[in-house]
Amino acid sequence: MKKPVIAIDGYSSTGKSSISKIIAEKLGIVHLDTGALYRGITWFALQNCVDDKDEINLEELFKSFHLIELEFKKEEDELVLFLNKINVSKEIRTAEVSDNVSLIAKQKEVRDFLLEAQRSIARNGGVIMDGRDIGTVVLPDADFKFFLTASIEERTKRRYNELLSMGFEADENQVRENLIERDRIDSEREISPLRQAEDAIVIDNTNLTKSQTIESILQHLKKINNFY
Ligand code: DC
Repeated sequence: MKKPVIAIDGYSSTGKSSISKIIAEKLGIVHLDTGALYRGITWFALQNCVDDKDEINLEELFKSFHLIELEFKKEEDELVLFLNKINVSKEIRTAEVSDNVSLIAKQKEVRDFLLEAQRSIARNGGVIMDGRDIGTVVLPDADFKFFLTASIEERTKRRYNELLSMGFEADENQVRENLIERDRIDSEREISPLRQAEDAIVIDNTNLTKSQTIESILQHLKKINNFY
């Protein structure tokens, strides 16, 4: 039996990745955090394609795609992102990357570059993919689609605590501003904007714990298809 393809989209810091990771473990399927791919490209651009004013030169980035090799490897039960053989899982979470990633993610060239790679991972089923355009563009035929949302205050708190737990210094106001600005750019961009697929199940997890959100998703999977 072909294992299911599950799309999880939603706003920044609604817990998409950590929730998807646990669901993948429970169901014995693969989890792909597509945001990490956009962050990886952004990190590469900040390292290799900046002008005299320290701003990203997009043309130079587009010309450098052939130099970028992105790979997920399993390390201690975690899929971590390697860029040109370097583990960049921590680097891609810095404020500098967060501040620039939406600019990079709205470029057609970047989205085209990553589209086929994402689709090919889902081709044989058995994947839960989280991002912003998975249910709408990357995997419109996914077996299950979910869209996560939560209040900005709650998301700020979660992101702030996550950064502290990773050993970064963080300012709560800056975290809030970054989330608002990223959601704005991600929702307003022309190509593959962040939006809910018409057939997605919406879960507002402002007042739900991570386990409750996971339980809610599993209940839906069970209800729809007697799957779980
Ligand atoms: O999930 P995240 O916050 O790590 O994602 C980082 C950025 O990447 C997000 O602000 C928008 C972009 N992104 C996207 O445009 N499409 C996706 N499928 C995943 C992420």
